Amino acid sequence: MKSFEISSEQASGVPLTVRAAGAEDAGRVAAILAECFHPVEGPVGFLQPWIQASLKGELANRLRTPPAFYSCLVAMVNEHPVGTVEVAMRGLPQPWWIPSFGVRDRLAYVSNLAVSPAFRRRGVARGLLVEVEHLVRRWNQATVNLHVMEHNQGALRLYRSLGYRLERSEQEWPFFGPRKLLLEKRLGP
Ligand SMILES: CC(C)(COP(=O)(O)OP(=O)(O)OC[C@H]1O[C@@H](n2cnc3c(N)ncnc32)[C@H](O)[C@@H]1OP(=O)(O)O)[C@@H](O)C(=O)NCCC(=O)NCCS
Repeated sequence: MKSFEISSEQASGVPLTVRAAGAEDAGRVAAILAECFHPVEGPVGFLQPWIQASLKGELANRLRTPPAFYSCLVAMVNEHPVGTVEVAMRGLPQPWWIPSFGVRDRLAYVSNLAVSPAFRRRGVARGLLVEVEHLVRRWNQATVNLHVMEHNQGALRLYRSLGYRLERSEQEWPFFGPRKLLLEKRLGP
């Protein structure tokens, strides 16, 4: 896996490498996901240790026997994992309240992009997504898709700056609540 340097001013030249995660990384990747998506400061923060343990189990399974066209990437600073992302060829996840019928089209779908708070705004997510694009091209796909909540303005700005465009807006819950945006990037030649 190719490596690159963090380029922003705040980074003080810290070298960042991006590599494919192995089963041995499951615990550290789960810790990043729990820290980013289920912070202890949140309303159910006391559940974090259980959520982290369950994430670790799920990841370990995926990483031990990865399906074809699946990868979990980790961004490392000085041998320390600071960010992660997953990408897979799969059907688009549907809102839970919309029934799905049969096999859905498979496309390159990004999930679980997360960067430890202490390492944000240094280009780590951008670096991970650039590596995702390289992978997806190798899978002979012309597009990458992902979902983002409409209120996640930081992530939206990141995706827009990389060329992702709105495909459609979806209701997370029937009739109320925040909307989920399906974004797509067309990869150039
Ligand atoms: C969203 C997230 C992955 C961004 O990671 P990051 O490493 O800080 O992002 P980068 O440094 O690569 O950001 C690149 C550009 O994206 C935009 N951006 C990223 N985070 C931003 C924020 N919080 N506010 C405004 N713009 C932001 C900026 O344009 C930034 O460039 P700049 O720093 O030169 O202004 C990180 O904040 C995170 O883990 N959030 C919690 C989990 C999450 O929401 N994941 C996405 C789910 S869809």
